[in-house]
Amino acid sequence: MKLIELSERIDRTRFKVLQPRLSVMESTTSTNDIAKELARRGAQDGAVVVSKTQTRGRGRYNRQWLSPEGGLYASFILIPRLEIEKAHLLGLLVGCAVVRALRETSGLTVGFKWPNDVMLSGRKVAGVLSELVATEEGGFRVVCGVGINLNTEPGPDLMHAAQKATAVVTETGFESDVGVVLLSVLRHVDELLDEVEKNQSYSALVEESRRMMTTIGQMVKVETQDGEVRGEVQSLEDDGSLIVIDSSGNRHRVRVGDVTHLRLTTGS
Ligand code: BTN
Repeated sequence: MKLIELSERIDRTRFKVLQPRLSVMESTTSTNDIAKELARRGAQDGAVVVSKTQTRGRGRYNRQWLSPEGGLYASFILIPRLEIEKAHLLGLLVGCAVVRALRETSGLTVGFKWPNDVMLSGRKVAGVLSELVATEEGGFRVVCGVGINLNTEPGPDLMHAAQKATAVVTETGFESDVGVVLLSVLRHVDELLDEVEKNQSYSALVEESRRMMTTIGQMVKVETQDGEVRGEVQSLEDDGSLIVIDSSGNRHRVRVGDVTHLRLTTGS
């Protein structure tokens, strides 16, 4: 399905809370930058900027996100649900929707690595970059940018040095339809938002993310603003933070950070 056809033919009656409106671009700098500008001007819930390629795709910590044709590069504009302090959980929600969508469209075992990486066969296949934007009228929007390596093998410089990357095509051997994957992500974002609104809580979402997480029980290194923490991941808390127990038994609550799974070496 061509992205432009999807934007014209999307059936909004099948959505429960989102009213997706797609702006499709051939190429742009970064869909997050375009979406942030639209958000500042008060774009509505469900506005989506999608581009076939990006020239300045960004990941977390301003890392480069190489964006050749064949991947999915989309930014979703969402209105924060519940308290504004919980707005960051929308990034988790979109990550969860990406895991669901990739499981559905590829049939593969896809997992989630805190806080925003989507993993396939132990390698990163997708990431979410969420940014809070203040509107001109004093409101807020969250821009959740999704990058998925679908039909192009990621180059070695695609990711943080410690992270190995993969693409859906590498694992399945067949090409994915970018429009079909985008529609699936949108449907799952809609379902998850509906659940949050009905329950007036993010706890079911956090519970689902726990089940998807490859991080719990793993030995990790977490780079935080206050330094490095090494230890075993104990849990994902309801506020989206990660609890890590270090070798002295100290408990660390990490709200923002970058996780590397450590492999335990055996032998001498
Ligand atoms: C990460 O893993 O660090 C997040 C990567 C997010 C990349 C996507 S691609 C679409 C959107 N536009 C950007 O510039 N970044 C996000």
